[in-house]
Parts: sequence; structure tokens; C-alpha cells
Amino acid sequence: MYKLFFRLVFQRMDPERAHHLAIRWIQCVARIPVLRTFVAAVLAPRCKELRTEAFGLRMHGPFGLAAGFDKNAVAIDGMAMLGFDHVEVGTVTGRPQPGNPRKRLFRLVADRALINRMGFNNEGSLTVAARLASRMPVFRTVVGVNIGKTKVVPEEEAVGDYVKSTERLAPYADYLVVNVSSPNTPGLRDLQATEALRPLLSAVREAADRAVPDRRVPLLVKIAPDLADEDVDAVADLAVELGLDGIIATNTTIAREGLGLASEPSLVKETGGLSGAPLKERSLQVLRRLYARVGDRVTLIGVGGIEDAEDAWQRILAGATLVQGYSALIYQGPFWARAVHKGLAERLRTSPYATLAEAVGADVRKAGTTA
Ligand SMILES: Cc1cc2nc3c(=O)[nH]c(=O)nc-3n(C[C@H](O)[C@H](O)[C@H](O)COP(=O)(O)O)c2cc1C
Repeated sequence: MYKLFFRLVFQRMDPERAHHLAIRWIQCVARIPVLRTFVAAVLAPRCKELRTEAFGLRMHGPFGLAAGFDKNAVAIDGMAMLGFDHVEVGTVTGRPQPGNPRKRLFRLVADRALINRMGFNNEGSLTVAARLASRMPVFRTVVGVNIGKTKVVPEEEAVGDYVKSTERLAPYADYLVVNVSSPNTPGLRDLQATEALRPLLSAVREAADRAVPDRRVPLLVKIAPDLADEDVDAVADLAVELGLDGIIATNTTIAREGLGLASEPSLVKETGGLSGAPLKERSLQVLRRLYARVGDRVTLIGVGGIEDAEDAWQRILAGATLVQGYSALIYQGPFWARAVHKGLAERLRTSPYATLAEAVGADVRKAGTTA
């Protein structure tokens, strides 16, 4: 049903227009109490066995919405209504910015993928913080806030920009993510080098503690799939050294491997980050490598190319406590989260593991490669 709707309506529209339209519809439904209760009952039934805890936060389940879909924190309840167990808003930057010129989002339908070079279009940390402060939550859901660098801020002043966003946003964040892995802000990914990342994460940690003295806001870092294996190890070691709460693996890739021959060559050539099915294998590899290095000392979130419950389950077995998705939502529609939950619960029931927590990293432990 959704697939037909996608082909007839969304696929004929500019992808960014379709995105804004979808958000508006979700917001509208979420504003009408009877309707949202009904939709949530259908799309977000809770499976008790999937209840999960990550960095001290209790969640209905492990499946959340990845950053980038709700950049300005305008649709948190709507996405919870669709069944996402946590919603990561952002990336939010210190100052508001328009992002890159349009057209900047492309659908590679035959490859079940997207290419985007949005460039952190967002309303800035002051506005988003005010919105979060005045939010009256309808559904109980965990809200992560993902922060990044303002484009016009020079790299030498990047730490100050992240700190400013932290001071404004940490009070409203259940967890905070330092994004150093988007390919669409020049120089951003250089911050993944440990010499740059150590002072950045330390400064954000201190700022979060100053801004929220009565609660330790969990701090995570989100990394790119394009890091060399030894750089993945270096980030893992740094996370342990700094007592970071989590690592999110991965963001979009600048590589174009894994694309079938089906997508139009002109689309494949678009610059930006590739997400969706072609990213699956590398994201899983990075996750496995991280878990082998950090074990249970740092919580891992698996994201990149997750399309169904089997993909999500494989990430859990590879070490992910939580999993996230974005691109497949475009192709699979509003029943996606429900299908993932149902499939995950079935897999857990028929697995040798009594709880989801027991399943986390089981494949990597079996292979005997954890640190
Ligand atoms: C249009 C679009 C915009 C995105 N914007 C952000 C962003 O602002 N911050 C971020 O950390 N990740 C962003 N991402 C990356 C996603 O959060 C996710 O890491 C990536 O798409 C891989 O997951 P997927 O294959 O399920 O889409 C964006 C992805 C897409 C497709």
C-alpha cells in the first residue's frame, strides 16, 4: 500500500519537498488526541521483551530514529507515535544556517539508497533549545540531541561552537551526540582524529556538566564509515579513556561501493553522503570492530543501511545496544518501525538469549575477539 503511494506521489515530488510534507502530516496527526492515540496503538505497540536500557536511560525498545530527519526538533511526538523508541534530533549547530544550495537530496530508488549534501540546514541551537524547553511531551520517548559545527566558524574555533550548543541544549537532552562525521561540512571529519577529538569531547563533557549540574547527560560521538580500521580503533580507545557513554556507528559514506548498476549514473555521481542499503556492510563491519575493542565498556549504537528486523538483529548480535535508521523509512513508510519491533521480538523469542541485553555482542563474543 505505502509502496504504491510512494511510487505515485512521493517519487514524483522533489525529495526534500516530500520530506517536509511528510513531517507536516506527521505533526498534524500527532496534534489530534484521538487520532494520535489510535495511530500509536496500531504502529507503536510495545513488546515487553524488547524493553531496553542504554547509558542509564530506560526505553521501550532498541529502535530509534537517526539524526537528520527531525533536524529542528519539530516532530518528536510524531516520530514516537510511529513507533521509534528514541528520537535523535539535529544536527543542530551553534548558529542557524541554511545549509547547501538545493538540490541537495537525491533518491537512488533502485538501490534503496539516498545521497544527501544538506550541509546541516537548521535553525541553530538557541531556537532549538527554546523549542525543546517549551515542549509538552505527549509520548514518553528518549530524546537525543546531535550537535555539529557551524559552517562559517573556522576550524580553530570549532570547540567553542560545540560548547555553545552544549550549554544551550544539554539541559533538554536525554543524551548528547557530538557529530564529527558528516561529509557535508568542510573539515568536519578531521575532528575525528584523536588529537582534535580529545579536547573537543573533553570540552563538551565539561560544558554539559556545568550546564546540567544535577544530572550526568550521557555523551556520545558519531563516526564515519570511511575511517580506516586503525582510526576506528583509535576512536574506540579514546572513548574508553575519556569515559564516553557511547559511539554511534555510522554516518553516511562518501564511498560509492555497493551501488548496483540500477541507479542512474548521473545520480550516483552527485556529491554528498550515501545512506541506505549500500551502507549496510561497512556500517556492520565498523560496529563489529568497535565492539571487539570496547566490549561492554562503551555503549554502541548501530546505524547505516538497516532495512528490516533481521538487519537490526544482526547489529545487536554485533554489539549494538541500540539501533537507528533513516533512509529505509522513506522507502518503507510508516509501518516500518512496527515491522522491525515485531521481527525483533520474534527473533529474541526463538534465540538462546533470555533478554536483549544478553544478545548484545553475542556473535563477536562467540568469535572470541572482544578486548
Ligand atoms: C537526508 C539525510 C540527512 C542527514 N542528516 C544528518 C545530520 O544532520 N546529522 C547526522 O548525524 N546524521 C545525519 N544523517 C545520517 C543518518 O543519521 C544516518 O547516520 C545515515 O543516514 C545512515 O543510516 P540509514 O542508512 O538508515 O539512513 C542524515 C541522513 C540523511 C539521509
